[in-house]
Amino acid sequence: MTIDLAAFPADFLWGTATSAYQIEGAVAEDGRSPSIWDTFSHTPGRTAGGDHGDVACDHYHRWREDIALMRRLDVNAYRLSVAWPRVMPGGDGPVNPKGLAFYDELVDGLLEAGITPSVTLYHWDLPQALQDRGGWPERHTALAFADYAAAVAERLGDRVRLWTTLNEPLCSAWIGHLEGRMAPGWRDLTAAVRASYHLLLGHGLAVQAIRAAVPHAEVGIVNNLSPIHPATDRADDRAAARRLDGHTNRWWLDPVHGRGFPADMRQVYGVDLPERSGDPEVIAAPLDWFGLNYYFPQTVAHDPDPAAPAPYVRTVSRAGVPRTGMDWEIDASGIESLLLRLTEDYGARRLYITENGSAYPDVVRPDGTVDDPERRAYLEAHLSACASALRKGVPLAGYFAWSLLDNFEWAYGYDKRFGLVHVDYTTQKRTIKGSGHRYAEIIRAHRGVGREAA
Ligand code: FCB
Repeated sequence: MTIDLAAFPADFLWGTATSAYQIEGAVAEDGRSPSIWDTFSHTPGRTAGGDHGDVACDHYHRWREDIALMRRLDVNAYRLSVAWPRVMPGGDGPVNPKGLAFYDELVDGLLEAGITPSVTLYHWDLPQALQDRGGWPERHTALAFADYAAAVAERLGDRVRLWTTLNEPLCSAWIGHLEGRMAPGWRDLTAAVRASYHLLLGHGLAVQAIRAAVPHAEVGIVNNLSPIHPATDRADDRAAARRLDGHTNRWWLDPVHGRGFPADMRQVYGVDLPERSGDPEVIAAPLDWFGLNYYFPQTVAHDPDPAAPAPYVRTVSRAGVPRTGMDWEIDASGIESLLLRLTEDYGARRLYITENGSAYPDVVRPDGTVDDPERRAYLEAHLSACASALRKGVPLAGYFAWSLLDNFEWAYGYDKRFGLVHVDYTTQKRTIKGSGHRYAEIIRAHRGVGREAA
């Protein structure tokens, strides 16, 4: 597939993304304390095959090799996350110098390689010590998050320009506290709504803390959004789609844009928000950019089962739509429609695709190569949709492929491989997949004379 590369601005960030717990390993080294994901993954029955992040990709020890891989991919940016339990093992309180030192060296290594670091402060690894005091359903966690954010920003802010507060707070709140499929594994609507509130409050407080520490910081938040389609044109299915849109998209977008928490969803949940005066302004702290993680659209019908959890919808599989190894529908038009929505309905002035990618069961062939034509096609289709959005005036400034490496895919364990680089977990050998080579080719073509199509 040919991609319209002339649509991408000259200073476009071509990156890959990872997160701390999914790749680092070294969970008990240099003063790191357990996070809720250590606890969750070591609880029998929580993850596929009992997989956990104890070693993962051993990135904590192999980060130099991983930067060398990024150079081979020719990326000019890298989205990483900092592990809160490395930096502030107690959740709040004293900073662990060794924890900060790791990210300090990593950032230096990236800059030496000509790669712009984009730092996410929270990618789901809450210190267990804070969970033991109630976790995100409690206001204290939001305040602690701001202190931790300040500590990291003070240390790295002289070299890091791009900051993300939260990654996908939807997953922390809804999947972690309502569906129970992610840490901390609760199924409690009240706790989930309170967690969602304190996550966004923590986001706003962290924005203030980062700006205080680093005046030139460019701060954003990363959400995973989905286009939501009703299964039929019936009124109850359209209402179900509206509810899932509220649950998935508007609940996370509106408060941050100064519109408050959507009234219709407050009614659907029927849970009092732990609001205090002044909070709405904190939550709506102005941002420099907005991050979109896009994977799949969703089609839903009304769920007549009175025991169904909020928001009372049933996901419907569309026949004939191709799917990835996660069983997620492939629909590149969704990335474009969401970029347009963020621009037209929410007035976005700078956007990044902070994650986008696909999992397939890749194998290393006898000749040592990994051929992954489906992932390559997914990448090309989604970049083409980005080009189309750019042509329509969307202010897209970068694309971060998920992921640099195969890694610990949360409750799915190591079976689901999203990497542009294959990891053999027995030997830790890395092999650039066909899709990785293709990504490098696209990046080089964009950089090349005339930024021709590739
Ligand atoms: C996103 C997460 C990321 C990874 C991808 C596949 O929801 O942010 O860590 O698991 O999905």
